[in-house]
Amino acid sequence: MKTVFVLNGPNLNLLGTREPAVYGAQTLADVEQICAAACARYGLALRFHQSNHEGALIDWIHEAGRLQAAGELAGLVLNAGAYTHTSVALADAVKGTGVTLIELHISNVHAREPFRHHSYLSAVARAVMCGFGVAGYGLAIDALAQMQ
Ligand code: DQA
Repeated sequence: MKTVFVLNGPNLNLLGTREPAVYGAQTLADVEQICAAACARYGLALRFHQSNHEGALIDWIHEAGRLQAAGELAGLVLNAGAYTHTSVALADAVKGTGVTLIELHISNVHAREPFRHHSYLSAVARAVMCGFGVAGYGLAIDALAQMQ
């Protein structure tokens, strides 16, 4: 059974109360349920994590990379939050491990402030998704399942 990693970066633990007009009313626990249901549809195992710390996200990307090297990773769905727009280190971790990355954003970042239009991750991503709300997580797992 292959594994899907779903990683969430800074402030995504606040989903449900954080700017609901932008991010919706569902919580991170709801997002985990969406991911679990999607993985169950395809017989995929789920690793779901959130951290406000860049280094923790990098450590999980490295772990996903070891699974990828063993042929046991379906892919990594990463909502890096604001680190998307700042972190060379996260992009280097993806590039260095060779993980199949889907970059995901709940909101349509291109319809927001200009500083959200650039992503360090897009260049190392297999695909980029934004603007589908939290439903995007399930759609990203659907896509990874079809890539297997
Ligand atoms: C986000 C968009 C980012 O610009 C922002 O910093 C976030 C969330 C999204 O899911 O829409 O924290 O990644």
